[in-house]
Amino acid sequence: EKGTYPHYMLKEIDEQPGVVRKIVQNYEDEEGNLVIPSDIANALHDADRLYIIAAGTSYHAGLVGKQYFEKMAGIPVEVHISSEFGYNMPLLSEKPFFIFISQSGETADSRQVLVKIKELGHPILTVTNVPGSTLSREADYTLLLHAGPEIAVASTKAYVAQVAVLAIVAYVEAQAKGKALDFDLKAELGIVANNIQTIVDHKEDMEHVAADFLETTRNAFFIGRSIDFYLSLEGALKLKEISYIQAEGFAGGELKHGTIALIEDGTPVFALITQKEVSLNLRGNVKEVTTRGANACIISMEGMEEPGDTIVLPPVHPLLTPLVSVVPLQLISYYASLARGCDVDKPRNLAKSVTVE
Ligand code: F6R
Repeated sequence: EKGTYPHYMLKEIDEQPGVVRKIVQNYEDEEGNLVIPSDIANALHDADRLYIIAAGTSYHAGLVGKQYFEKMAGIPVEVHISSEFGYNMPLLSEKPFFIFISQSGETADSRQVLVKIKELGHPILTVTNVPGSTLSREADYTLLLHAGPEIAVASTKAYVAQVAVLAIVAYVEAQAKGKALDFDLKAELGIVANNIQTIVDHKEDMEHVAADFLETTRNAFFIGRSIDFYLSLEGALKLKEISYIQAEGFAGGELKHGTIALIEDGTPVFALITQKEVSLNLRGNVKEVTTRGANACIISMEGMEEPGDTIVLPPVHPLLTPLVSVVPLQLISYYASLARGCDVDKPRNLAKSVTVE
């Protein structure tokens, strides 16, 4: 059912504005307030620390979620890669609360952690796109992503859904804690949906970016600071898995501690600038790489753009920028994969759900 679309991935990218709207509908009460089921809210409220466990793109969504819980609700959060956590468990707090994030709900690496945590008797919430999936059945609580089936191996709309749902959970918990929130998340998510739509309506711009920066390159770098660092990890993962271009995401400030040695004439560097308080630092990092010959693609948010930036994103609330900045990264990867003749929806060596540890 990809209809007129050449690939599921493109269809799923296009569905993202609708996914954000659908999540808002599914997480609002009759008065139109954002809510989560009270048993989940209560269990979360009792916790002294959250442990987010996930793999791949879902792990990247978890990193963004950490910022939400810490900045909105004031709860400390650790985010762990499931394959590491199972065998190298950190010391847990007194009242831990576990959140497993998994599009498929079947990832074996995450499941083995869930089984161990269950044995320890700690509360577990699974955030998944698949009702009745293993991780959902085995958890105490489930929150659904409502993204609709994701068929392409590269995860797109599930990431957006995960970030949106985590924002809602953090916001609801912040309200329960009586935190002063200076924004209306529901209204802001409406703006996000509209702005994702604007980006997908101009997707040919991203096709040009892919052609200009990635047609023949062997490698590529993504840099960002703060929340944009997490997006740089996701941008790199998306690009490498479907275009086979070796790609790495870095914290802007870390690049000079080694990796900058790899910058040569023409090396593509995608720089994300959506956070005002670090935008000048990141501009400095861009200068460091362009001085050494890099071909910098600057993706900035309206309000902090400078002449010459490659992509200027329509503005959203500073905490919600991942929901829009990920979209050009997805589209650039899509078009790079296409231009290089790769199998966009079914990249080599990869499966949609990874059921081995
Ligand atoms: C990346 C991708 C993988 C998955 C990872 C976790 O595009 O699809 O990195 O994100 O295998 O899968 P789930 O979320 O199903 O647990």
